[in-house]
Amino acid sequence: MFCDQIQPQILGISPYVPGKPISELQRELGLKRISKLASNENPLGASLKVTAAIQAEFADIARYPDGNAFYLKSELAKFFKVTEQQVALGNGSNEVLELAARVFAGPGDEIVYSQYAFAVYPICAQAVGATGVEVPAKNWGHDLPAMLKAITPKTKMVFLANPNNPTGTMFRRAEWEAFISQVPKQVIVVLDEAYVEYVEDADYANGREYLETYPNLLISRTFSKAYGLASLRVGFMLGSEEVIAYLNRLREPFNINQFAQVGAVAALQDQAFVNKGVALNKVGMQQMVNAFADMGLNYIPSYGNFVCVEFAQKPGLAAEINQALLKQGVIVRPLAGYKMPDHLRVSIGSVAENQHFIDVLKSLKSLYA
Ligand SMILES: Cc1ncc(COP(=O)(O)O)c(C=O)c1O
Repeated sequence: MFCDQIQPQILGISPYVPGKPISELQRELGLKRISKLASNENPLGASLKVTAAIQAEFADIARYPDGNAFYLKSELAKFFKVTEQQVALGNGSNEVLELAARVFAGPGDEIVYSQYAFAVYPICAQAVGATGVEVPAKNWGHDLPAMLKAITPKTKMVFLANPNNPTGTMFRRAEWEAFISQVPKQVIVVLDEAYVEYVEDADYANGREYLETYPNLLISRTFSKAYGLASLRVGFMLGSEEVIAYLNRLREPFNINQFAQVGAVAALQDQAFVNKGVALNKVGMQQMVNAFADMGLNYIPSYGNFVCVEFAQKPGLAAEINQALLKQGVIVRPLAGYKMPDHLRVSIGSVAENQHFIDVLKSLKSLYA
């Protein structure tokens, strides 16, 4: 009935398909044990300092949050050695990514991103009526020279994820520097570093080091992964004061609730917790890839807290394996929506959760061997 009134770009968007709550799945399948390895969450949960800070905030639940997130911004500014005016906060980094697209692009403009890049980028482009330009990936990762060539006078923004989700691929310093130094100065480059904390490679191109040189650079970070605050929804962008000021014009004033603000401050102050999670991830990643090697399965080497395993033996096999895993209480992420129908993305969980997944997968050997 309202079809004719809807903005044409909105009609083309496929809605996000959320998974069922774990408790519902458990009830439906009659399972005792569920291992959710589908959303790249932190198997350690969150720092106890975070829960204590949130509890202390309950008394003020009836009050509006601090609209400027004074303490969180100043902690972030201190941590990253930037000014508070260089920080824009979002309800998850998802919100700041969208905000950036809304500020800088509109109908007739182009937004460049890579094939197999995080699904939110094409959605952002579509939502603002811009044309999404998808550049073919190279070995599942971003082909930065090709992305540079894809920039035209119509390009307003480039989205990059390093490491990328869902592929886990990473680009290094030399490649990045060759790219960013040649991007026209008026084109905004959004460098999404949602998984930065997990990267231990000395050659990683950490966006923070490039902020002073490139005022067109925006770095996106999140508290959802290594900090374990996915439910609180806190993400942020760092950039030049001018660009961040534009983002803040559109930001909804109370977009970070008070529990999220105090939780994020406490999380940032507990780097020992982050380090513990990173160490656990390293062990878990090794556990996963060793098991894949044992089972003769191909995977895409990953720098994040997840890994893509391939079931290309026959069409539809990955979907079949996904259903079989689900029936035995293991939830992973099928990637048909990313046009990677032969892969499943598995988050690195606790050692016990990983083993649950590995044991069930081994029991399904007749399907893929
Ligand atoms: C690459 C990437 N960027 C951004 C996000 C958004 O995370 P959040 O909105 O929880 O900060 C995700 C979540 O999976 C991601 O994988």
